[in-house]
Amino acid sequence: MNRRPRRNRKSAVIRSMVEETNLSVKDLIFPLFLIEGSNQKVEVSSMPGIYRYSLDLMLKEIESCIRLGIKAFDIFPAYPESKKDKFATESYNPETFYLKAIQKIKSTFPDICVMTDVAMDPYSSDGHDGLVEDGEILNDETLEILGKMAMAQAQAGADIIGPSDMMDGRVGFIRNILDQNNYKEVSIMSYTAKYASAFYNPFRDALDSAPKAGDKKTYQMDPANLQEALLEADLDEKEGADFLMVKPAMSYLDVIRTLKENTYLPIAAYNVSGEYSMIKAAQQKGWLDGEKVMAESLLSMKRAGANIILTYFAKEFALLQQKQ
Ligand code: PBG
Repeated sequence: MNRRPRRNRKSAVIRSMVEETNLSVKDLIFPLFLIEGSNQKVEVSSMPGIYRYSLDLMLKEIESCIRLGIKAFDIFPAYPESKKDKFATESYNPETFYLKAIQKIKSTFPDICVMTDVAMDPYSSDGHDGLVEDGEILNDETLEILGKMAMAQAQAGADIIGPSDMMDGRVGFIRNILDQNNYKEVSIMSYTAKYASAFYNPFRDALDSAPKAGDKKTYQMDPANLQEALLEADLDEKEGADFLMVKPAMSYLDVIRTLKENTYLPIAAYNVSGEYSMIKAAQQKGWLDGEKVMAESLLSMKRAGANIILTYFAKEFALLQQKQ
């Protein structure tokens, strides 16, 4: 035997020299849940360790994350039923709490990157990402609302807009509105391949945003499809996206790899709520080493080709890095 791959595994130093993939806090975006009011920190029941924060406490949380090296945050507001309507009007009301919160976050921490989500569901009485009429999700009518939402978020200071709605043509529509209003510097991270997945349920608990009727299969992608992700990627590129995202991540590593091989744009992976909750639940039962499984699964997303990972594990990973 003149080939012995084990020689390159014989010590920690050599193992680290031949390591092909590196995971850093710089790769991570931390999704945070925002609620109205003050002095509120409420744990999401299906996501142990993840909280909904009022702005005052969110500012403290962001500060502690910055100290750990996390510089990018995705802010998701939760609205009470009483503020929701058919047209998601609250999503672009300039007086609404989440837009004021983004302004405050950006003025307090000008150097961080703030991302916002564009979709109707947290503000919609129907709980769908688009406008519902007779049980149907209207595409082009939804675009008008998404455009107003994206504009309002850009005005509030968002660095990256994340359309998560999966309507056709939304990236181009939003790019156009932003450019026309001189928000040329605002980036778009498109949820390019967003699947109709059962892994989003804890997120919908966090925002009370589950659909009231039906499912999201007429706009989110069929988990059976890979080729269709290439079609979506092609459209998003042509329409002006700056980043392409795959969501969920763990069950879709092949999609991450395929998009990576077919674009010059950076790829983001969204390590979604259900993926977080599964690991946490197994950890709580003592069935898995939660920290190791977290690190291994995040690493697998980078190895698959993701440049950026949106993950609820961001802070826990950063704390772990600091310990080592
Ligand atoms: C809203 C949105 C969802 C997620 C991100 N943006 C939920 C959905 O599409 O139903 C899911 C994130 C997660 O599960 O962590 N359109």
